[in-house]
Amino acid sequence: MRLLLVVSSLACALAIGCAPPAPEGVSDELWELCRDDLHLSAPDCQDIATWRLPEALPVARGNRYADDVRAAELGRAIFFDQGFATIPEVSCATCHSPSLAFGDGHRTPQVILGSPGSRNSPSLLVSARLEGFFLWDGRADSLWSQPLGALENPIEMGTTRLAIAHRIADEAAYQSAYEVIFGALPPLDDLERFPESGMPGTASWEAMTAEDRDAIDRVVANVGKALEAYLRRIVSGPSAVDRYLDGDRDAMPPDARRGLARFVESGCTSCHSGPMLTDERFHAGREMEDRGRALGIEQLLESPFNSEGPYFDRDAGEALELPLGPEARDEHAFRTPSLRNVSLTAPYEHDGSRSLEEILAARGILYEEGDEVVIDAFLTQLVGDPPPAEWTHP
Ligand code: HEC
Ligand code: HEC
Repeated sequence: MRLLLVVSSLACALAIGCAPPAPEGVSDELWELCRDDLHLSAPDCQDIATWRLPEALPVARGNRYADDVRAAELGRAIFFDQGFATIPEVSCATCHSPSLAFGDGHRTPQVILGSPGSRNSPSLLVSARLEGFFLWDGRADSLWSQPLGALENPIEMGTTRLAIAHRIADEAAYQSAYEVIFGALPPLDDLERFPESGMPGTASWEAMTAEDRDAIDRVVANVGKALEAYLRRIVSGPSAVDRYLDGDRDAMPPDARRGLARFVESGCTSCHSGPMLTDERFHAGREMEDRGRALGIEQLLESPFNSEGPYFDRDAGEALELPLGPEARDEHAFRTPSLRNVSLTAPYEHDGSRSLEEILAARGILYEEGDEVVIDAFLTQLVGDPPPAEWTHP
């Protein structure tokens, strides 16, 4: 035994066949894969060591009902219900369709003829796995606080928070499910106090007392919490890339393995790193009108549903630190999207304007002939196992 050690260190010293030890944070198995199969340097191997997908979801910020299955069931019913939107036949699933990875496959949604939105509908399959600010511009600091934006957006669902609360109170199944989880609803049958429709900026809303407005905001915050509980049931699982990195060399075909190496060598990992292949930060790239993160920060700071507001459950999860205000670097900056499931969600980027080839050309670091083919092959291997079927339909 001792002799063997002496001989092997002698071989090392003479540089005739001895592998350097695994770099920090990299297992011996992964290091072997990086060296022998991917031909990656130690720092590049350290990059992909960050990709390991945790089994558990992160703790939901400010939502103590996030893992309550009754809340998830209520959230599912609301998600598929076409009775909330004032635009016919529209529900959350219109733009986040289970058959399209909970995205919509369009460049931007167009639920009202002639009124396209300006942002691409993202897949929701990994939203509950993200830990930073949500949406392309980060204007939500929790997952439960963002659906109200879609519900009240005139070109998305076009309803109002008062109408949402009334629908919950008027449908027997919603009312009982809601009250079991969240407690009694306000007396919504009193239409003097709670008009049928209204949101900030409308006369009916502004005429209400501050206390009654708070009661309605609490109901819609709870609707958001039920929707988040649902989103936590529709996360995708591990992909071929995870199985490959776990040591199953046959999990990915050779061109995808080459693509993985080119992805890392090209510096994509300086932003697309970590388990979700995103730094969850905001980066400015091209010239455009959309102010992106800068406007997102202004809207986040004004929202009563942010983590400093009264609807954030302080005993659940930690709040993200809010920015003080937009800075120059936030102008036209957008969140680095997760690349998990990305091949299911073309066209790409915040406005759905780009193909993979265009993205590669634009980032173009160390760009080699054939990169777009192999990187594309790699990205298709990031499609995760689908969520449990029972949660993907009404
Ligand atoms: C008309 C299409 C449309 C409808 C209807 C719609 N959404 Fe969206 N959704 C979008 C678009 C577009 C974005 C990206 C907007 C942005 O970032 O500015 C988005 C973003 C999101 C995100 C952010 C995901 C992330 O990872 O940051 C969540 C969560 C979400 N929607 C959930 C919902 C829920 C729940 C409903 C129903 C209450 C809903 N959406 C209804 C189009 C829609
Ligand atoms: C400086 C940080 C950064 C680097 C480096 C980077 N990306 Fe991105 N990536 C982003 C941001 C930010 C977006 C969103 C831009 C937008 O929506 O306007 C994005 C978007 C994408 C998208 C679209 C995803 C979707 O869901 O729409 C793909 C695909 C992508 N990047 C792949 C790559 C590849 C491949 C590389 C390496 C060649 C790379 N990126 C390098 C930050 C980066």
